[in-house]
Amino acid sequence: MTPATTAPEATTATEATTATTATSTASAPRVAIVGATGAVGSTLLELMESRGFRYSELHLVASARSAGRVLTVGEREYTVVAVEDFDFGRADVAFFSAGTAVSEKWVPVATEAGALVIDNTIAFRMDPDTPLVVPQVNAHELDRRPASGVVANPNCSTIPLVRLLRGIEDRWGIRNAVVSTYQAASGLGYSGVEELQESSRAALQGPDADFEANHFRPTLAFNVIPKIDRFLDSGFTLEEEKMLRESRKILGMPHLDVTTTCVRVPVANCHSEAVYVECQEPVDRAELVEVLAGLPEVRVHDRESATAFPTPAVVDSSDVVHVGRVRVTQNNPRAFWLWLVADNLRIGAALNALQIGEEIVARGTLEARP
Ligand SMILES: NC(=O)c1ccc[n+]([C@@H]2O[C@H](COP(=O)([O-])OP(=O)(O)OC[C@H]3O[C@@H](n4cnc5c(N)ncnc54)[C@H](OP(=O)(O)O)[C@@H]3O)[C@@H](O)[C@H]2O)c1
Repeated sequence: MTPATTAPEATTATEATTATTATSTASAPRVAIVGATGAVGSTLLELMESRGFRYSELHLVASARSAGRVLTVGEREYTVVAVEDFDFGRADVAFFSAGTAVSEKWVPVATEAGALVIDNTIAFRMDPDTPLVVPQVNAHELDRRPASGVVANPNCSTIPLVRLLRGIEDRWGIRNAVVSTYQAASGLGYSGVEELQESSRAALQGPDADFEANHFRPTLAFNVIPKIDRFLDSGFTLEEEKMLRESRKILGMPHLDVTTTCVRVPVANCHSEAVYVECQEPVDRAELVEVLAGLPEVRVHDRESATAFPTPAVVDSSDVVHVGRVRVTQNNPRAFWLWLVADNLRIGAALNALQIGEEIVARGTLEARP
């Protein structure tokens, strides 16, 4: 890790205008957030503060549209810089959450300048030199600085799924899994949530209301859409393909049989999944609940009451994976269903990325800066 500097030029690109925060210290890494004004970037900044992630400098980067905007982080104000104007040599760690095209163009610039990149897009996830990490599953991948200089953050629906599959595989062995997702509008960022709100208002006003969809076709208002991302020749969508290949890579199970149907639903935030797993051995329900509840940062809702199952509206902004409806199938004692809900902006994106950052700092991975 490059030592922090206190020279005046250290604050020019992201000018700090008020006092030092508790999380900012001279021995901590210099951090850049690319996509700082977006839904994931904002959530990341919030989590950095609430979890006390220490940094010696913080640089907020976005597009030229947001350049000059002032954001408050903790007790300090920072001016957003356009990515074209940012010198990545000023960052030890760069979090990228600004879209795949931005990562494809600017991640190589950042790694060339010596920054370790934690990337939230699809750009590098399947690159063999880039670990794809869910810290609760494969944090050991962070023991060494990756050859590519990039650690990839998986797809938002894959992350909570593999956190459960890891424990199930270790105890019973997985034969196959069938998953249906119920994905929120915030999966497409702030503009996705705005479009859900506007389309819902327009739908209530009647067929003549003035509304044009940018993201969701047909409309997401009062609807569900069984297509996320583009269709592939196989008939599956890219989102469904991501869940298969990313689960295999993270779990180190190249032949894992997971098949999914990914569905967008008119929910603002938090993705849900109905998960069917067939195991190698019979599964005792009580033991299954115990195993799931014993996994890191997982909460099982298992009481016979109205609150016995999690829903997006109830568990929004939570930092754990919520599980409910655990039931062994009546005709096959090796198979069971469960329902999970996880905040896609946190667990599916910003929290996972930050936990990668925390592990990298704790393991001294940044010391091997090229
Ligand atoms: N939302 C999720 O649940 C989720 C989950 C996993 C991964 N991701 C990934 O995270 C990324 C961001 O998603 P989001 O939901 O935060 O989207 P968002 O709310 O639309 O935010 C996009 C961010 O990227 C910046 N940006 C856009 N174009 C840019 C450019 N040409 N150069 C530099 N910065 C640019 C925007 O800056 P301006 O303010 O300047 O426009 C904004 O900060 C996407 O790649 C997405 O696939 C999202």
